[in-house]
Amino acid sequence: MPLITWSYMLSTGIAEQDAQHKKLVELINQLNEAQYTGQDKDIQGGALAQLIDYTVYHFGYEEALMNQYDDEDTARHRAEHSKFVQVVEGFQQQFEVGAALVTADLMHFLRDWLTGHIMKTDKKMGQRLAQQGLS
Ligand SMILES: [Fe+2]
Ligand SMILES: [Fe+2]
Repeated sequence: MPLITWSYMLSTGIAEQDAQHKKLVELINQLNEAQYTGQDKDIQGGALAQLIDYTVYHFGYEEALMNQYDDEDTARHRAEHSKFVQVVEGFQQQFEVGAALVTADLMHFLRDWLTGHIMKTDKKMGQRLAQQGLS
C-alpha cells in the first residue's frame, strides 16, 4: 500500500508543479516500499538518492518561478526548502556510513513534511502565481 496517495487536496493548480509533486510522491512511495520490504542497502540508497536529486531539481524549479513572478513569501519558502535539503542530505551521509537506517519514522517524517509543505506553502505560492497568469 502506498504511503502517500496524491489527491486534489495536494493540487496547487499549476500543472507542472502538480506533475512534479506527483513524481515526488512516487519516489517517496518507492523508498517506503524498499524500506518495508527490507531491500538491501544499495537499493534503499538508490531510492534515497533518486528522491533527494529530484527534490533538489523540484525546489530549483519552484525557486526559478518565484524569481520570475512576484511572490511575497519567497524568503520563507526558500528557507523551508534549504532546511529540508540539509536534513535529508545529513541523513543520507549517516545512512551511507552505516550510522542510520531508513525507518518507518523517517518515512513518516518525509510524508508529513512533503504533504505539509505542499498544502501550506506551495498551494499559496500556486494561488499567487495563478493570479499573475501562470497555469
Ligand atoms: Fe513543491
Ligand atoms: Fe516548495
